[in-house]
Amino acid sequence: MRHPLIAANWKMFGTLDGVQRYLETLIGHLQPGNPQVVVCPPYTLLPAAVMVATGSAVAIGAQSCHWEEKGAFTGEVAAPMLAELGVTWVVVGHSERRQYFGETDATAAARARAAQRAGLSCIFCLGELLTEREAGQTLAVLERQSAVLAGLDPTRLALAYEPVWAIGTGRNATPEQAQEAHTFLRQRIASLLGSDAAAGLRILYGGSVKPENAAAILSQADVDGALVGGASLDVDAFSAIIHAASGSSRAG
Ligand code: 13P
Repeated sequence: MRHPLIAANWKMFGTLDGVQRYLETLIGHLQPGNPQVVVCPPYTLLPAAVMVATGSAVAIGAQSCHWEEKGAFTGEVAAPMLAELGVTWVVVGHSERRQYFGETDATAAARARAAQRAGLSCIFCLGELLTEREAGQTLAVLERQSAVLAGLDPTRLALAYEPVWAIGTGRNATPEQAQEAHTFLRQRIASLLGSDAAAGLRILYGGSVKPENAAAILSQADVDGALVGGASLDVDAFSAIIHAASGSSRAG
């Protein structure tokens, strides 16, 4: 069975005071039978977030990590540093990292390997640009981006299909578009990591997920959760998305 996973990517938003109140409220809203929940605030908020979330059903994630364990890499944060804090997840290869910070398939894969070496689980993001979708290249792009997943530990991995044209635009993929991409990615995982890995791997959808559209997207057979940006900043909206995913474990 694949237990649904709902993750919040706060991007470069949030305050120290806000993260504490947010997590206390979120933890209070969770019920037995809810999906697994991960909250990924900026690095500076991670220690406070871990302190509030420890012992609760909410796990804390970072938004990236470096591929080396230490070294002269000004501005970067290493995976063992995150693990030392009590962080258990890390987002890797987000399209904003690819677009603004030179992330490539190869560097994303190196970060994912480093995260797993440090004992962290990883949400690996992939997805096509609007021009690529319009040119009919969506599946070819996903094939290229997923090729680097070979060799990763599938038990510490989730994928997030995030079509770039749907991120922060209010224009979500249709449930059918999401299902098509997720089915393709699951087949890719079967050939790269084996059929057991493919059956058990959670594939999240990300891109303008909101309380109003979450249930329809999450109803698709191969959509095992969501990676939520803007709507995750509002604890009530994020809780509503979590509840939309409740009770929807998938047969693996
Ligand atoms: P939005 O939910 O704001 O579209 O962002 C999606 C995203 O990038 C999550 O990682």
